Amino acid sequence: MTRPLQRLTYFSQSLIRGPDWFIEGEIARLLAVARDRNRQMAITGMLLFNDGCFAQILEGAAEDLDTLLRSITADPRHAGVTVMQRGLIDIRAFPDWNMHYIAHAAPIGAKGGPGLFERLSGVAQARA
Ligand SMILES: Cc1cc2nc3c(=O)[nH]c(=O)nc-3n(C[C@H](O)[C@H](O)[C@H](O)COP(=O)(O)O)c2cc1C
Repeated sequence: MTRPLQRLTYFSQSLIRGPDWFIEGEIARLLAVARDRNRQMAITGMLLFNDGCFAQILEGAAEDLDTLLRSITADPRHAGVTVMQRGLIDIRAFPDWNMHYIAHAAPIGAKGGPGLFERLSGVAQARA
């Protein structure tokens, strides 16, 4: 039996400091590990970075999302991890995205939280 799927959306403030090239390098390193692990756990989604803020959409089985969220929350590269939305989904919005990355997205904006997933997928569609 397939396990029920959930989608989780959060934002956080990056603590990676330095020139843009350095920050992008650190994010590339982070993504290499993340994609590997996500593949093993069948987690899909996207990560946006803009003006010192991250926003991420994660899709997968509930217990895998719990495990991953613990790692992510404890990660010293960012702070203030705030889950904006979490719930059951029938199908993945990003089935082919192991962890799709969008840099310099339009302002992610922590405010107006509940619509975060909708706004992020809008950004992704505009860039596709
Ligand atoms: C903004 C941000 C997003 C991350 N996204 C993921 C992710 O999607 N998948 C993942 O495995 N790790 C992700 N990580 C890295 C994890 O926090 C963690 O370093 C990694 O999973 C290794 O986990 P461990 O240190 O508990 O072994 C992310 C880290 C940050 C700062």
